[in-house]
Amino acid sequence: MARESEASPDATLRAAPFGAAELADAQSEALTRIEAATDLASLEEAERQAVGKRSHFAGLYQQLRAFEPSERKDAGQRLQKVRRRLDEAITAKRAELTAAERVGRLAADRLDLTEVLPAARQGHLHLVTRVREELEDVFVGMGYEIAEGPEIETDWYNFQALNIPVDHPARSSVDTFFVEAAEAETLLLRTHTSPVQIHLLERRELPIYAVVPGLVYRRDTPDATHLPAFHQLEGLVVDRGVSFGDLAGTIETFVHAIFGETVRSRLRPAYFPFTEPSAEFEISCMICDGSGCRTCAGTGWIELGGCGMVHPAVFEATDVDPEEWTGFAFGFGIDRLAIMRHGIADLRSFIENDVRFLEQF
Ligand code: DAH
Repeated sequence: MARESEASPDATLRAAPFGAAELADAQSEALTRIEAATDLASLEEAERQAVGKRSHFAGLYQQLRAFEPSERKDAGQRLQKVRRRLDEAITAKRAELTAAERVGRLAADRLDLTEVLPAARQGHLHLVTRVREELEDVFVGMGYEIAEGPEIETDWYNFQALNIPVDHPARSSVDTFFVEAAEAETLLLRTHTSPVQIHLLERRELPIYAVVPGLVYRRDTPDATHLPAFHQLEGLVVDRGVSFGDLAGTIETFVHAIFGETVRSRLRPAYFPFTEPSAEFEISCMICDGSGCRTCAGTGWIELGGCGMVHPAVFEATDVDPEEWTGFAFGFGIDRLAIMRHGIADLRSFIENDVRFLEQF
């Protein structure tokens, strides 16, 4: 690059007017430099060296002064032509490098969504959701469908059609959240999932084998065993020749699937308006294996939910012929089942969102 340092403004003082060969050399040297640039920064440097103030090319401009005026115009035009050629090369190279850098930047910025970072803390489904899904799997395995129903209900679906008449204690407004959108105390947040039995009987072809998980609402102050919004799972089977024995067997099967083969279940007579006969189902206490402890209040058994044969009044409300069809229903709290299975002391831990609690499951 010795020529470069010679190409200073004072080159005019010594240089003889340039010839065509020198001009061609200067052009090819500059073009080589421009071509060799590998990124925008090196192109800028090449541009400075090729046509910048202190470049060989600038030196040639200086030399124009030494030309005879008659030759100067022609030499100037030749120089201009080279200059344009170099400018074009620089512009083309700049476009090429800009595009390449953009591609490179995009590649670097691209998110690799397949990447798994073992160090990152991964979340998971809430325990109640997991238990609900497990329950769904167990019942799907027995041939049931998973159904849903509305959380806002009318008095008819939540109470009357379920054989809970107007003056029945089970519909005490002390327990019920009413929705202030219609005539007083006609719209409410469902207090149980049983109203979905009515929707199913109204809109489904028989037979029905369905379970309905969902949120229900009661005006309870939260404590260790109560939440004002909690989850239930309702079951409804209506077919020809369904018996109480089928109900007992179904409960035994799901209790074993959820709690393990060593846990036993039993039915105890109870009363629900929408089933007859009705029963409460209980499981042997997992803490003491049935011998009696604090958790089961010394009885050896823990109550899980209610069940029974579908009451004729429910069939009547939904126009199902009780001569042809029989059925059973059951319902229980998913949150309560989860605290029993996992030995959790307080239902409220499910809604406090304390990660130290949630991540254990
Ligand atoms: N709906 C009842 C409750 O919330 C639970 C229940 C009892 C559901 C008996 C049923 C049943 O389907 O047959 O307390």
